Amino acid sequence: MSSRDYTLGVMGCGTIFPAYMKGLARFDHLNVKWAADIVPERAQAAQDSYGIPHIGTPAQLLADDEIDVVVNLTWPKVHHDVSMAALRAGKHVYSEKVIGITLTQARELQAEAASRDLLLGSAPDTFLGGWGATSRGLVDAGALGTIIGGTAFVTHNRVEHGHPDPTFLFERGAGPALDRGPYYVTALVNLLGPVAEVSGMTAWGPRTRIMTNPARRVDVVPVEVPTHWTGQLRFHAGAVVTVVFSSDIWANELPELELYGTKATMSLPNPNFFDGDVRLAGLDRDANFVTVPPAVPLGGLRGQGVADLVAALGGGAPQRASAELATHVLEVLLAIEASSDQHQTITIETPCERPIWPALGDVVLDMTGTPVPLRASPELGQ
Ligand SMILES: NC(=O)c1ccc[n+]([C@@H]2O[C@H](COP(=O)([O-])OP(=O)(O)OC[C@H]3O[C@@H](n4cnc5c(N)ncnc54)[C@H](O)[C@@H]3O)[C@@H](O)[C@H]2O)c1
Repeated sequence: MSSRDYTLGVMGCGTIFPAYMKGLARFDHLNVKWAADIVPERAQAAQDSYGIPHIGTPAQLLADDEIDVVVNLTWPKVHHDVSMAALRAGKHVYSEKVIGITLTQARELQAEAASRDLLLGSAPDTFLGGWGATSRGLVDAGALGTIIGGTAFVTHNRVEHGHPDPTFLFERGAGPALDRGPYYVTALVNLLGPVAEVSGMTAWGPRTRIMTNPARRVDVVPVEVPTHWTGQLRFHAGAVVTVVFSSDIWANELPELELYGTKATMSLPNPNFFDGDVRLAGLDRDANFVTVPPAVPLGGLRGQGVADLVAALGGGAPQRASAELATHVLEVLLAIEASSDQHQTITIETPCERPIWPALGDVVLDMTGTPVPLRASPELGQ
């Protein structure tokens, strides 16, 4: 826990804003002083709903010297510019994913933060929740043995029927891979460490999407990115994970995320959320999946990554939802499309360490009910 209070300013008061306000309210030391949006009515609605002391333009927010951390909840295509302006105003920044829509943008932001001795963090932070701790504890304890491979499936989340304006979700910087792939690849890097190389193929579904949400602000959304991505990720640790990120898989019976080890298979819940069961199955003939009791209480809300950044600032804790991790994940995702376009395997260059977790004690039970430690070590167990 941090030794002092931090003052936050939130940029972007759209669909995800309420989830952040709810999540940040759990932390007594994080106080939202400002909310800004390029659409004044959205900032006004945010103030009306959450009693935020100050609202206005992004420039007005940045001019307030009391703001320690800017939380960037704008669209991916402007994440770079919004985060850069905040860093140049001397603020620490926590950005929604993706950290930038190109590797160059992500690197520029990292360099700017480093040159100013500021911290930059990025979503997703869902891997900091219950399933993230439990799965990490199991892998570190060697409950899976040597991990040979895995699979990850993003299927369509039907935003046509739910989001008021998902235009940005079909633009460069989003699509099924960059919008939801970060949850899966971040979970994988947390468990397996960095990715060494990537190969992939992409395909396009319909070039326009028809909106059916009764509360929609648009009727038709143009599609700017491939909507069906398949890839192979080879991790430095040796495992090869097959990923499918798609806005064209509607009905299906696919798992979310699985890892296959020499001792057990691990099944993970949808990593887009903090909640969900981690399940293990052994290798014997009649083995069934067994739910592993969670390492930390289930639950968790957006804003965890902001608390992670502030803990790194205040107490020197290792930052887990870091810019380094987010940049590595972005490079991996972009490499799938690059591999498809270039018909070759892409070597991943960005450095990334396995996030370091605090030691939480013997808090995870494996499939036989044996307590296993959640270690602070970044080493991969076997
Ligand atoms: N909607 C979700 O369920 C969800 C879940 C997790 C993460 N996210 C992420 O959160 C971010 C926002 O998504 P959303 O669904 O809330 O989008 P949204 O379109 O509902 O809201 C984005 C808001 O940002 C504002 N904005 C745009 N440019 C701005 C700028 N330069 N300065 C200030 N405000 C600006 C827009 O006016 C809008 O109000 C995205 O990165 C998305 O990937 C969304």
